[in-house]
Amino acid sequence: MATSANYRVMSGMRPTGALHLGHYHGVLKNWVRLQNEYECFFSIVDWHALTTEYETPGAIERNVWEMIIDWLAVGINPGAAKLYIQSRIPEHAELHLLLSMLTPQSWLERVPSYKEQQERLHEKDLTTYGFLGYPLLQTADIIIFKASYVPVGEDQVAHVEMAREVARRFNYLYGRDPGFESKAERAARKMGKKNNKLYFELLNKYQEQGDAQALEKARALVEAQQNISISDRERLVGYLEGGGKMIFPEPRALLTEAPKMPGTDGQKMSKSYNNTISLREPSARVEDKVRTMPTDPARIRRKDPGDPEKCPVWDLHKVYSDESLKDWVQQGCRSAGIGCLDCKKPLIEAIIREQAPIRERAEDYINDPETVRAIINEGCETARDVARETLTEVREAMGLDYA
Ligand code: TRP
Ligand code: SF4
Repeated sequence: MATSANYRVMSGMRPTGALHLGHYHGVLKNWVRLQNEYECFFSIVDWHALTTEYETPGAIERNVWEMIIDWLAVGINPGAAKLYIQSRIPEHAELHLLLSMLTPQSWLERVPSYKEQQERLHEKDLTTYGFLGYPLLQTADIIIFKASYVPVGEDQVAHVEMAREVARRFNYLYGRDPGFESKAERAARKMGKKNNKLYFELLNKYQEQGDAQALEKARALVEAQQNISISDRERLVGYLEGGGKMIFPEPRALLTEAPKMPGTDGQKMSKSYNNTISLREPSARVEDKVRTMPTDPARIRRKDPGDPEKCPVWDLHKVYSDESLKDWVQQGCRSAGIGCLDCKKPLIEAIIREQAPIRERAEDYINDPETVRAIINEGCETARDVARETLTEVREAMGLDYA
């Protein structure tokens, strides 16, 4: 049976240094869950950092190690997921270059983040070739591992969409190796007599009657085969859709549903707004930051009733508090029964409680840099093996294997 363990998950994060609560609740908790369900590749995308930090790359290295420590401290388990640094896998660069040959420039120009980021970071000159290529580099990250799923936030969906389009275009251009029909037929026979027959029945149903269910069934049949090679499996899936070999599966975004994490000024928590509470923020500073958070602006005096819907502190309660505590806030705020500092107190406690084990684990890793390096070396090696295999296939498909 095809279990989810057969599917790969890939995601990446730019090394921005110590991570904050927004990263934790928005992304990392989800990764920790996924690592037990799928084969996961988590990348520290230092080249992506360079697309905007190329003038001052000095901080990237330190940020990389800080971020790795935070990943490990929140429970990303190197025994389950592969953790690696993008630039340590030069095959990414090769794939990016090869993909650039077949990617229309307009696809890159129309990605919404391109103009948005240029405007947002207007103090930087982002009219570079590398910055334009940002989503294509991301495409290479994803498809080099033939990932099926990419856990990301809403802002990255357009990038994953781009990866799907590029994968499709690649398959279309280079997936039809000569004699793919007879190769597919040979591969189908390897599934055994019964499955071979079923495969062609389903294939005909799909191709002649457009029966989408038959296509799904046939795909599941192929994916459930343990005793045929990956390359045969891809050939059989590609053949179903009338193409040749499906070299790159089309990845899908796994949208992470997370409540909004407000920063200390009420806007979304983000390093660029300077409103973060970091994962390893000293407790006294957590207290300070929450105590000075803005509240419902209409609640000027203690005796004024407030409206939690107009207060960023309420957003924090949505992340941290159970129903009875939330009821207490709603009633107390609307009736002026509680003061804002009362309201914030359980949040301060909750954040400090959440951070204690994270801080402790981080300390262990900070005191043992050898182990951290060994974890990354191992992740890089495993990731690189997979990337090498993909590139061998890619070169072959594009006619670049001068053996
Ligand atoms: N662009 C992503 C971000 O800014 C980071 C990223 C790079 C990424 N490569 C990736 C995310 C591959 C998912 C998969 O958040
Ligand atoms: Fe916000 Fe709580 Fe104050 Fe109401 S009581 S305004 S929810 S901080």
